[in-house]
Amino acid sequence: MSHVLIAQAGSVLEVIFNRPEKKNALTAAMYGAVVDAFRRADEDPGIRVVLVSGTGDSFTSGNDITDFQARSAADEASPAAAFLDALSSLAKPLVAAVNGAAIGVGTTMLAHADLVIAARSARFVMPFTSLGLVPEAASSLLFPALVGHQRASALLLLGDPFDAETAHRWGLVNQVVADAELMTAARAVATRLAALPPAAVRQTKDLMKHGRPNVAGRIEQEMAVFRERVRSPEAAEAFQAFLEKRKPDFSGFS
Ligand code: COA
Repeated sequence: MSHVLIAQAGSVLEVIFNRPEKKNALTAAMYGAVVDAFRRADEDPGIRVVLVSGTGDSFTSGNDITDFQARSAADEASPAAAFLDALSSLAKPLVAAVNGAAIGVGTTMLAHADLVIAARSARFVMPFTSLGLVPEAASSLLFPALVGHQRASALLLLGDPFDAETAHRWGLVNQVVADAELMTAARAVATRLAALPPAAVRQTKDLMKHGRPNVAGRIEQEMAVFRERVRSPEAAEAFQAFLEKRKPDFSGFS
């Protein structure tokens, strides 16, 4: 069974993270499949909207930590880098349906979605520093703009988690619904978008994205630091501790 399911319903392309036994942690192969789906969506006039979601009890627990250990996730031409590029430049509207854990890129990717529907179970966290890493997906730029510098510091420096209601209050999420209603609500929004004049929708998205500061530049800047961090002894300790299911020990680092 593929770890990313692709399904078309009318003119909505559904991209579904499907690795529930690993909380939908994203591997290089999964990023590659999502990039292909995003490209297909932009090229195919029969697709008007992309809807992303996860199977099981999580949206996604972020980048696969085993891949981090192999460092493939941070290579210049890595599928993760291609994913961030495809995500931030997707011309068709992107709707996200988020349930359970949305960790790391599971949260940061939402700043690039156009509409986000969250289940009450959704829990967001960006634990980059505790993994010895730095933020990605231009989150170091977009989150301070979204929630203010101090709150963004709690999210990105401390790695504080937040729930669906908080995400709604901060404007990261459009609507919070009961878990059982998540996909119905997200599909309803996607279908509404898909019924609108498609060129007007694409151009409106494009105009709103142009109003943003230099997202592509920040993604590159972050990735340059990220590539160093992922090879650092701090990160090595954090990854090993996660895989050994123990608390990391950063006491020896300066
Ligand atoms: N990378 C690799 N494996 C992951 C993973 C990730 N990001 N997230 C979860 N898994 C694996 C676990 O290692 C475990 O594997 P195992 O069954 O072979 O031991 C399996 O998925 C289930 O996870 P588990 O931790 O047992 O479930 P839980 O319900 O107790 O906790 C999470 C779920 C998502 C809160 C927890 O797994 C977690 O914190 N994951 C790491 C998230 C993270 O730091 N991501 C990177 C962000 S940059």
